[in-house]
Amino acid sequence: MAVQKEKKTCGQVMKEWKEFIWNPRTHQFMGRTGSSWALILLFYLIFYGFLTALFTLTMWVMLQTMDPFVPKYQDRLSVPGMMIRPKTEALDITYNISNTESWENYVRMLNQFLEAYNNSRQLATNEVCRPGLYNEQPDNGVLNYPKRACQFNRTTLEDCSGLNDTTYGYREGRPCILVKMNRVINFYAGANQTMNITCAAKKEEDAQKLGEIAMFPANGNIDLMYFPYYGKKVHLNYTQPVVAVKFLNLTYNFDHNVECKINAANIATNDDRDKFAGRVAFKIRVNKD
Ligand SMILES: *[C@@H]1O[C@H](CO)[C@@H](O)[C@H](O)[C@H]1NC(C)=O
Ligand SMILES: *[C@@H]1O[C@H](CO)[C@@H](O)[C@H](O)[C@H]1NC(C)=O
Ligand SMILES: *[C@@H]1O[C@H](CO)[C@@H](O)[C@H](O)[C@H]1NC(C)=O
Ligand SMILES: *[C@@H]1O[C@H](CO)[C@@H](O)[C@H](O)[C@H]1NC(C)=O
Ligand SMILES: *[C@@H]1O[C@H](CO)[C@@H](O)[C@H](O)[C@H]1NC(C)=O
Ligand SMILES: *[C@@H]1O[C@H](CO)[C@@H](O)[C@H](O)[C@H]1NC(C)=O
Ligand SMILES: *[C@@H]1O[C@H](CO)[C@@H](O)[C@H](O)[C@H]1NC(C)=O
Ligand SMILES: *[C@@H]1O[C@H](CO)[C@@H](O)[C@H](O)[C@H]1NC(C)=O
Repeated sequence: MAVQKEKKTCGQVMKEWKEFIWNPRTHQFMGRTGSSWALILLFYLIFYGFLTALFTLTMWVMLQTMDPFVPKYQDRLSVPGMMIRPKTEALDITYNISNTESWENYVRMLNQFLEAYNNSRQLATNEVCRPGLYNEQPDNGVLNYPKRACQFNRTTLEDCSGLNDTTYGYREGRPCILVKMNRVINFYAGANQTMNITCAAKKEEDAQKLGEIAMFPANGNIDLMYFPYYGKKVHLNYTQPVVAVKFLNLTYNFDHNVECKINAANIATNDDRDKFAGRVAFKIRVNKD
Protein backbone atom coordinates (compact mmCIF):
# COMPACT_ATOMS: atom_id res chain seq x y z
CA MET A 1 0.00 0.00 0.00
CA ALA A 2 2.64 2.42 1.00
CA VAL A 3 4.51 1.68 -2.16
CA GLN A 4 1.39 2.30 -4.19
CA LYS A 5 0.78 5.61 -2.51
CA GLU A 6 4.23 6.80 -3.32
CA LYS A 7 3.56 6.09 -6.90
CA LYS A 8 0.65 8.53 -7.07
CA THR A 9 1.43 11.40 -9.33
CA CYS A 10 1.03 14.97 -8.39
CA GLY A 11 -1.97 15.26 -10.71
CA GLN A 12 -3.74 12.39 -8.99
CA VAL A 13 -3.30 13.94 -5.58
CA MET A 14 -4.71 17.23 -6.84
CA LYS A 15 -7.67 15.46 -8.31
CA GLU A 16 -8.39 13.60 -5.10
CA TRP A 17 -8.31 16.85 -3.15
CA LYS A 18 -10.58 18.59 -5.59
CA GLU A 19 -13.03 15.77 -5.24
CA PHE A 20 -12.86 15.98 -1.47
CA ILE A 21 -13.66 19.66 -1.52
CA TRP A 22 -16.50 19.32 -3.98
CA ASN A 23 -17.65 15.98 -5.24
CA PRO A 24 -20.06 16.58 -8.14
CA ARG A 25 -21.18 12.94 -8.24
CA THR A 26 -22.42 12.69 -4.64
CA HIS A 27 -22.92 16.46 -4.21
CA GLN A 28 -20.75 16.38 -1.13
CA PHE A 29 -18.84 19.35 0.14
CA MET A 30 -15.81 18.32 2.14
CA GLY A 31 -17.19 14.89 2.60
CA ARG A 32 -20.67 15.94 3.71
CA THR A 33 -23.92 16.65 1.96
CA GLY A 34 -25.71 19.96 2.27
CA SER A 35 -28.30 18.66 4.70
CA SER A 36 -25.57 17.15 6.86
CA TRP A 37 -23.83 20.50 7.02
CA ALA A 38 -27.10 22.26 7.80
CA LEU A 39 -27.71 19.90 10.71
CA ILE A 40 -24.26 20.54 12.13
CA LEU A 41 -24.75 24.29 11.80
CA LEU A 42 -28.12 24.08 13.49
CA PHE A 43 -26.67 22.04 16.32
CA TYR A 44 -23.93 24.58 17.04
CA LEU A 45 -26.33 27.48 16.71
CA ILE A 46 -28.57 26.02 19.38
CA PHE A 47 -25.63 24.95 21.51
CA TYR A 48 -23.97 28.36 21.59
CA GLY A 49 -27.29 30.13 21.87
CA PHE A 50 -27.98 28.11 24.98
CA LEU A 51 -24.55 28.88 26.45
CA THR A 52 -24.99 32.59 25.84
CA ALA A 53 -28.41 32.58 27.44
CA LEU A 54 -27.10 30.73 30.48
CA PHE A 55 -24.18 33.12 30.90
CA THR A 56 -26.39 36.17 30.54
CA LEU A 57 -28.85 34.84 33.06
CA THR A 58 -26.14 34.06 35.61
CA MET A 59 -24.60 37.50 35.17
CA TRP A 60 -27.97 39.19 35.51
CA VAL A 61 -28.84 37.33 38.68
CA MET A 62 -25.48 38.21 40.17
CA LEU A 63 -25.79 41.88 39.31
CA GLN A 64 -29.25 41.98 40.89
CA THR A 65 -27.71 41.07 44.22
CA MET A 66 -25.08 43.78 44.09
CA ASP A 67 -25.31 47.38 45.19
CA PRO A 68 -23.25 49.36 42.68
CA PHE A 69 -22.03 51.72 45.36
CA VAL A 70 -20.95 49.31 48.04
CA PRO A 71 -18.09 46.93 47.42
CA LYS A 72 -19.44 43.43 48.03
CA TYR A 73 -16.15 41.91 48.98
CA GLN A 74 -13.87 44.15 50.93
CA ASP A 75 -10.38 42.88 51.47
CA ARG A 76 -9.36 45.99 53.33
CA LEU A 77 -7.93 45.55 56.76
CA SER A 78 -9.99 46.78 59.63
CA VAL A 79 -6.86 48.08 61.32
CA PRO A 80 -5.81 51.02 59.18
CA GLY A 81 -2.23 51.20 58.08
CA MET A 82 -0.21 54.38 58.18
CA MET A 83 1.99 55.91 55.53
CA ILE A 84 4.21 58.92 55.11
CA ARG A 85 4.77 61.50 52.41
CA PRO A 86 7.20 61.88 50.75
CA LYS A 87 7.06 58.16 50.27
CA THR A 88 10.27 56.51 49.20
CA GLU A 89 11.12 52.91 48.49
CA ALA A 90 12.46 52.01 51.91
CA LEU A 91 10.78 54.88 53.78
CA ASP A 92 14.19 56.44 53.96
CA ILE A 93 14.46 60.20 53.69
CA THR A 94 18.07 61.14 53.36
CA TYR A 95 19.44 64.31 51.89
CA ASN A 96 22.28 66.76 51.95
CA ILE A 97 21.35 70.38 52.63
CA SER A 98 23.96 71.85 50.31
CA ASN A 99 23.01 69.50 47.51
CA THR A 100 19.72 70.90 46.28
CA GLU A 101 19.06 67.98 43.97
CA SER A 102 19.04 65.60 46.91
CA TRP A 103 15.91 67.16 48.39
CA GLU A 104 14.16 68.76 45.42
CA ASN A 105 12.34 65.55 44.71
CA TYR A 106 10.89 65.37 48.23
CA VAL A 107 9.57 68.89 47.83
CA ARG A 108 8.05 67.99 44.49
CA MET A 109 6.30 64.96 45.99
CA LEU A 110 4.87 67.05 48.81
CA ASN A 111 3.67 69.72 46.39
CA GLN A 112 1.95 67.11 44.33
CA PHE A 113 0.31 65.45 47.30
CA LEU A 114 -0.94 68.70 48.78
CA GLU A 115 -2.40 70.11 45.59
CA ALA A 116 -5.77 68.60 46.41
CA TYR A 117 -5.68 70.34 49.80
CA ASN A 118 -5.46 73.88 48.39
CA ASN A 119 -7.95 76.03 50.25
CA SER A 120 -9.55 77.10 46.99
CA ARG A 121 -10.03 73.48 45.97
CA GLN A 122 -11.44 72.54 49.35
CA LEU A 123 -13.80 75.50 49.34
CA ALA A 124 -15.06 74.57 45.88
CA THR A 125 -15.67 70.87 46.47
CA ASN A 126 -16.09 70.26 50.19
CA GLU A 127 -18.14 71.61 53.03
CA VAL A 128 -17.37 72.98 56.47
CA CYS A 129 -18.17 70.35 59.08
CA ARG A 130 -18.64 70.46 62.79
CA PRO A 131 -15.40 69.48 64.54
CA GLY A 132 -15.49 66.60 66.96
CA LEU A 133 -18.45 64.84 65.35
CA TYR A 134 -18.58 62.05 62.82
CA ASN A 135 -19.82 63.15 59.42
CA GLU A 136 -22.44 60.44 59.17
CA GLN A 137 -24.55 60.31 56.05
CA PRO A 138 -26.69 57.22 56.40
CA ASP A 139 -28.98 56.05 53.66
CA ASN A 140 -32.04 55.61 55.90
CA GLY A 141 -33.97 53.66 53.35
CA VAL A 142 -33.32 56.09 50.52
CA LEU A 143 -29.99 56.26 48.77
CA ASN A 144 -27.99 59.22 49.91
CA TYR A 145 -25.40 59.50 47.15
CA PRO A 146 -22.97 60.99 46.61
CA LYS A 147 -21.63 61.61 50.09
CA ARG A 148 -20.35 65.04 50.97
CA ALA A 149 -16.82 65.49 52.23
CA CYS A 150 -15.35 67.80 54.85
CA GLN A 151 -12.81 70.50 54.15
CA PHE A 152 -9.22 69.94 55.11
CA ASN A 153 -7.46 73.15 54.25
CA ARG A 154 -3.84 73.18 53.30
CA THR A 155 -3.24 76.18 55.56
CA THR A 156 -3.99 74.08 58.64
CA LEU A 157 -0.58 72.50 58.09
CA GLU A 158 0.93 75.95 58.73
CA ASP A 159 4.74 75.75 58.54
CA CYS A 160 4.44 72.45 56.68
CA SER A 161 1.85 73.67 54.18
CA GLY A 162 4.51 74.59 51.65
CA LEU A 163 2.84 77.96 51.22
CA ASN A 164 5.06 80.39 53.11
CA ASP A 165 8.04 78.08 53.17
CA THR A 166 8.00 76.52 49.73
CA THR A 167 10.70 73.98 50.57
CA TYR A 168 8.85 72.55 53.61
CA GLY A 169 11.91 73.24 55.74
CA TYR A 170 14.21 70.98 53.73
CA ARG A 171 16.48 73.87 52.80
CA GLU A 172 17.11 74.78 56.45
CA GLY A 173 17.50 71.21 57.63
CA ARG A 174 14.16 71.29 59.46
CA PRO A 175 12.18 69.00 57.19
CA CYS A 176 8.47 68.24 57.28
CA ILE A 177 7.01 64.76 56.88
CA LEU A 178 3.32 64.13 56.38
CA VAL A 179 1.69 61.22 58.15
CA LYS A 180 -1.63 59.80 57.06
CA MET A 181 -3.84 56.92 57.91
CA ASN A 182 -5.02 54.68 55.10
CA ARG A 183 -8.67 54.71 54.27
CA VAL A 184 -10.92 52.07 55.70
CA ILE A 185 -14.49 52.08 54.50
CA ASN A 186 -17.19 52.58 57.15
CA PHE A 187 -14.67 52.73 59.95
CA TYR A 188 -15.49 54.95 62.90
CA ALA A 189 -11.93 55.79 63.83
CA GLY A 190 -11.48 56.90 67.40
CA ALA A 191 -14.78 55.48 68.69
CA ASN A 192 -16.13 58.94 69.55
CA GLN A 193 -12.96 60.07 71.32
CA THR A 194 -10.33 62.49 70.07
CA MET A 195 -7.39 61.00 68.26
CA ASN A 196 -3.89 62.20 67.66
CA ILE A 197 -0.68 61.12 66.02
CA THR A 198 2.54 61.16 67.96
CA CYS A 199 6.07 60.63 66.70
CA ALA A 200 9.19 59.72 68.59
CA ALA A 201 12.61 58.20 68.16
CA LYS A 202 12.31 54.46 67.95
CA LYS A 203 14.95 54.04 70.63
CA GLU A 204 14.40 56.14 73.66
CA GLU A 205 18.08 56.96 74.06
CA ASP A 206 18.04 58.68 70.66
CA ALA A 207 15.28 61.10 71.62
CA GLN A 208 17.81 63.76 72.54
CA LYS A 209 19.45 63.58 69.11
CA LEU A 210 16.12 63.72 67.31
CA GLY A 211 15.38 66.99 69.04
CA GLU A 212 12.15 68.87 69.24
CA ILE A 213 9.25 68.05 66.98
CA ALA A 214 6.36 70.29 65.95
CA MET A 215 3.01 68.89 64.86
CA PHE A 216 0.43 70.47 62.58
CA PRO A 217 -2.45 70.72 63.21
CA ALA A 218 -1.68 71.30 66.88
CA ASN A 219 -1.06 68.16 68.97
CA GLY A 220 -1.22 66.04 65.83
CA ASN A 221 -4.97 65.85 66.16
CA ILE A 222 -7.13 64.08 63.61
CA ASP A 223 -10.71 65.20 63.77
CA LEU A 224 -13.61 62.76 63.85
CA MET A 225 -15.38 64.70 61.11
CA TYR A 226 -13.26 62.99 58.45
CA PHE A 227 -14.90 59.67 59.32
CA PRO A 228 -16.48 57.47 58.28
CA TYR A 229 -15.20 57.14 54.77
CA TYR A 230 -17.82 55.68 52.45
CA GLY A 231 -15.64 54.50 49.57
CA LYS A 232 -14.19 55.90 46.40
CA LYS A 233 -17.31 55.59 44.34
CA VAL A 234 -19.68 57.50 46.58
CA HIS A 235 -17.36 59.73 48.58
CA LEU A 236 -16.16 61.57 45.53
CA ASN A 237 -14.31 64.54 46.94
CA TYR A 238 -13.16 62.90 50.15
CA THR A 239 -10.01 64.51 51.47
CA GLN A 240 -7.95 62.41 53.78
CA PRO A 241 -6.83 64.07 56.99
CA VAL A 242 -3.08 64.36 57.40
CA VAL A 243 -0.74 65.39 60.16
CA ALA A 244 2.53 67.15 59.48
CA VAL A 245 5.62 66.52 61.56
CA LYS A 246 8.41 69.07 61.52
CA PHE A 247 11.81 68.16 62.88
CA LEU A 248 13.03 71.38 64.41
CA ASN A 249 16.47 70.51 65.67
CA LEU A 250 17.63 67.11 64.58
CA THR A 251 21.25 66.11 64.78
CA TYR A 252 22.88 66.23 61.35
CA ASN A 253 24.75 63.34 59.74
CA PHE A 254 22.92 60.80 61.85
CA ASP A 255 20.37 58.10 61.00
CA HIS A 256 17.22 58.86 62.95
CA ASN A 257 14.77 56.02 63.20
CA VAL A 258 11.40 57.52 63.89
CA GLU A 259 8.08 55.91 64.61
CA CYS A 260 4.76 57.66 64.31
CA LYS A 261 1.64 56.08 65.65
CA ILE A 262 -1.97 56.92 66.08
CA ASN A 263 -3.48 57.14 69.52
CA ALA A 264 -7.06 56.11 69.05
CA ALA A 265 -9.33 54.10 71.29
CA ASN A 266 -10.13 51.52 68.62
CA ILE A 267 -6.83 51.19 66.76
CA ALA A 268 -4.22 48.82 68.10
CA THR A 269 -0.65 49.80 67.32
CA ASN A 270 1.21 46.77 68.62
CA ASP A 271 0.41 44.13 66.02
CA ASP A 272 3.65 42.18 65.62
CA ARG A 273 2.62 40.70 62.28
CA ASP A 274 1.69 43.98 60.65
CA LYS A 275 4.23 46.71 61.25
CA PHE A 276 2.07 49.26 59.45
CA ALA A 277 -1.02 48.72 61.58
CA GLY A 278 -1.68 52.03 63.24
CA ARG A 279 1.94 53.06 62.97
CA VAL A 280 4.72 53.74 60.54
CA ALA A 281 8.47 53.73 61.01
CA PHE A 282 10.88 55.58 58.77
CA LYS A 283 14.44 56.81 58.63
CA ILE A 284 15.43 60.40 58.30
CA ARG A 285 18.94 61.71 57.86
CA VAL A 286 20.07 65.21 57.06
CA ASN A 287 23.63 65.59 55.93
CA LYS A 288 25.50 68.80 56.45
CA ASP A 289 29.18 69.68 56.31
C1 LIG B 1 -2.34 75.47 45.13
O1 LIG B 1 -1.97 76.71 45.72
C2 LIG B 1 -0.64 77.11 45.42
C3 LIG B 1 -0.37 78.40 46.18
O2 LIG B 1 -1.53 79.04 46.59
C4 LIG B 1 -0.51 77.32 43.92
O3 LIG B 1 0.82 77.66 43.62
C5 LIG B 1 -0.87 76.02 43.22
O4 LIG B 1 -0.84 76.22 41.84
C6 LIG B 1 -2.24 75.57 43.63
N1 LIG B 1 -2.51 74.29 43.05
C7 LIG B 1 -3.68 73.96 42.55
C8 LIG B 1 -3.82 72.63 41.96
O5 LIG B 1 -4.62 74.72 42.56
C1 LIG C 1 -10.81 76.65 54.17
O1 LIG C 1 -10.39 77.76 53.42
C2 LIG C 1 -11.44 78.47 52.83
C3 LIG C 1 -10.83 79.55 51.97
O2 LIG C 1 -9.79 80.18 52.61
C4 LIG C 1 -12.37 79.02 53.90
O3 LIG C 1 -13.42 79.71 53.31
C5 LIG C 1 -12.89 77.87 54.73
O4 LIG C 1 -13.69 78.34 55.79
C6 LIG C 1 -11.76 77.06 55.28
N1 LIG C 1 -12.31 75.87 55.89
C7 LIG C 1 -12.02 75.50 57.13
C8 LIG C 1 -12.67 74.24 57.60
O5 LIG C 1 -11.29 76.13 57.85
C1 LIG D 1 -17.32 67.21 44.16
O1 LIG D 1 -16.61 68.26 43.50
C2 LIG D 1 -17.22 68.69 42.31
C3 LIG D 1 -16.33 69.75 41.71
O2 LIG D 1 -15.06 69.22 41.47
C4 LIG D 1 -18.59 69.24 42.61
O3 LIG D 1 -19.22 69.62 41.39
C5 LIG D 1 -19.43 68.19 43.29
O4 LIG D 1 -20.67 68.74 43.66
C6 LIG D 1 -18.73 67.67 44.51
N1 LIG D 1 -19.48 66.55 45.04
C7 LIG D 1 -19.93 66.54 46.29
C8 LIG D 1 -20.70 65.35 46.70
O5 LIG D 1 -19.75 67.45 47.07
C1 LIG E 1 2.23 82.78 56.11
O1 LIG E 1 2.82 83.93 56.65
C2 LIG E 1 1.87 84.94 57.00
C3 LIG E 1 2.65 86.17 57.45
O2 LIG E 1 3.72 85.82 58.25
C4 LIG E 1 0.96 84.42 58.10
O3 LIG E 1 0.00 85.39 58.43
C5 LIG E 1 0.25 83.17 57.57
O4 LIG E 1 -0.53 82.60 58.61
C6 LIG E 1 1.26 82.15 57.09
N1 LIG E 1 0.55 81.08 56.45
C7 LIG E 1 0.73 79.83 56.78
C8 LIG E 1 -0.07 78.84 56.03
O5 LIG E 1 1.51 79.46 57.64
C1 LIG F 1 -20.80 58.21 69.37
O1 LIG F 1 -21.64 58.93 70.28
C2 LIG F 1 -22.98 59.06 69.86
C3 LIG F 1 -23.71 59.98 70.81
O2 LIG F 1 -23.28 59.77 72.12
C4 LIG F 1 -23.60 57.68 69.78
O3 LIG F 1 -24.94 57.79 69.33
C5 LIG F 1 -22.81 56.83 68.81
O4 LIG F 1 -23.32 55.51 68.79
C6 LIG F 1 -21.35 56.80 69.18
N1 LIG F 1 -20.62 56.17 68.10
C7 LIG F 1 -19.67 55.28 68.30
C8 LIG F 1 -18.99 54.72 67.09
O5 LIG F 1 -19.31 54.95 69.41
C1 LIG G 1 -2.85 62.06 72.32
O1 LIG G 1 -3.87 61.14 72.66
C2 LIG G 1 -3.57 60.41 73.84
C3 LIG G 1 -4.63 59.37 74.04
O2 LIG G 1 -5.81 59.72 73.41
C4 LIG G 1 -3.50 61.39 75.00
O3 LIG G 1 -3.17 60.69 76.19
C5 LIG G 1 -2.42 62.41 74.71
O4 LIG G 1 -2.42 63.42 75.74
C6 LIG G 1 -2.66 63.10 73.40
N1 LIG G 1 -1.51 63.92 73.09
C7 LIG G 1 -1.64 65.18 72.72
C8 LIG G 1 -0.38 65.89 72.41
O5 LIG G 1 -2.71 65.72 72.60
C1 LIG H 1 19.20 71.59 69.54
O1 LIG H 1 19.77 70.36 69.97
C2 LIG H 1 21.02 70.49 70.61
C3 LIG H 1 21.50 69.10 70.99
O2 LIG H 1 21.30 68.20 69.96
C4 LIG H 1 20.88 71.35 71.88
O3 LIG H 1 22.15 71.53 72.45
C5 LIG H 1 20.27 72.68 71.51
O4 LIG H 1 20.01 73.42 72.68
C6 LIG H 1 18.97 72.48 70.74
N1 LIG H 1 18.47 73.76 70.31
C7 LIG H 1 17.22 74.14 70.56
C8 LIG H 1 16.84 75.50 70.05
O5 LIG H 1 16.43 73.44 71.15
C1 LIG I 1 27.01 67.43 50.79
O1 LIG I 1 27.07 67.84 49.45
C2 LIG I 1 28.22 68.63 49.18
C3 LIG I 1 28.10 69.16 47.75
O2 LIG I 1 27.66 68.14 46.90
C4 LIG I 1 29.46 67.77 49.38
O3 LIG I 1 30.62 68.52 49.13
C5 LIG I 1 29.49 67.26 50.82
O4 LIG I 1 30.55 66.35 50.98
C6 LIG I 1 28.18 66.56 51.16
N1 LIG I 1 28.18 66.29 52.59
C7 LIG I 1 27.85 65.14 53.11
C8 LIG I 1 27.92 65.05 54.60
O5 LIG I 1 27.50 64.20 52.43
